[in-house]
Amino acid sequence: MSIFRLKPDPVVGIDIGTTAVKLLELSQVGDKFQVESYAMEPLPENSVEDKDISQLEAVAPAINSVVKRAKPRSQYAAVAVAGRNVITKTITMNSGLSDNEIQEQIEADPASYIGQDIEDIEFDFQMIGPNEKEPDRVDYLLAVCRSETLEVRTNVIELGGLKAKIVDIEKYALENAFKMVVENDPDIDETDTIALVEIGATTTTIIVLGDQKIVYTNEQLFGSKQLIERVVSQYDLSYEEADRAIRNGGLVSDETPLSDYETEILDPFKEDIVDQISLMIKNYNAHSSYGKLAHIFIAGGCAPIPGLIENLNTKLSGHITIVNPFSSMQLAPRVSEKALMRDAPALMIACGLALRTFDEY
Ligand SMILES: Nc1ncnc2c1ncn2[C@@H]1O[C@H](COP(=O)(O)OP(=O)(O)OP(=O)(O)O)[C@@H](O)[C@H]1O
Ligand SMILES: [Mg+2]
Repeated sequence: MSIFRLKPDPVVGIDIGTTAVKLLELSQVGDKFQVESYAMEPLPENSVEDKDISQLEAVAPAINSVVKRAKPRSQYAAVAVAGRNVITKTITMNSGLSDNEIQEQIEADPASYIGQDIEDIEFDFQMIGPNEKEPDRVDYLLAVCRSETLEVRTNVIELGGLKAKIVDIEKYALENAFKMVVENDPDIDETDTIALVEIGATTTTIIVLGDQKIVYTNEQLFGSKQLIERVVSQYDLSYEEADRAIRNGGLVSDETPLSDYETEILDPFKEDIVDQISLMIKNYNAHSSYGKLAHIFIAGGCAPIPGLIENLNTKLSGHITIVNPFSSMQLAPRVSEKALMRDAPALMIACGLALRTFDEY
């Protein structure tokens, strides 16, 4: 699905996260996807807050830097919005209406469809299918975003040297990449119920796929920002130094180990992750009739933390693995496999965005 679609064109996926900008470009070679280019650039503290860009002047140079390094073939980008300025909901309309008629009806009384009165919004919608209770009416997915949020995203992309062609919603980009992973995994049975848990810097998201469709999603404010803050206060480092040290397995300046980092800081954080994911899975089990999870994929920047997958498997006794969105893809010669594999679980959203190139319009 492409929300806030502007125009079909091959696009580069640009994921603007709290801690980094990630660029990914895919092409299709025969019946396989190929990674054409990718790059990642860390962002200064507070440049993205609550999923909103708060410092355009910090984010634009980071986009510029990934573009310069990756040299994508396309100048068009797919980006995503998320956070409190984005609302998605299912609405039911009479059947037989044209897209224009639906557009006019919503414009005439947006508050009644959105459920709250907010000004200066942009919206888009897509048909889901007949309503379950009233089969002669039709359900649509409505996505609403504050105009300013959209403008800032498209401006920052332009300042960074690309043109925004698709503005998606982060959760849908993640779902899109998850479906691709599942479709290409020969070990997964069509009837399996499977979860993806993405642990980012600020947010942890669970998505469950059952009967080949999304049957459950949930989001919690939990992520490695807590870990970064602990490292900042414990070792008197700047935010940037702390984030670099964490990504380097607890080494500062690439060689000096932070004292007691593993036992004092990382192990308790790993326990927090295990508790958080256990709770999210418990909630899923309590709210869904799709049954036990056959497999759980772990994504996001926190996925490669050493020992995390083992701890999760012990606590949750399931099939839990790190996701690799590139396992069925080819790599262009200029893409470093080592670097791509290291970052792979953190590139799910960028991947979901880059895949929009192949959506049917
Ligand atoms: N080896 C590692 N050990 C521990 N944490 C790590 C490791 N590698 C990366 N991280 C953490 O993962 C974080 C980045 O995760 P990710 O890229 O998913 O977040 P984000 O997209 O910037 O944030 P959000 O999605 O919440 O906006 C880094 O800030 C870092 O703290
Ligand atoms: Mg993210």
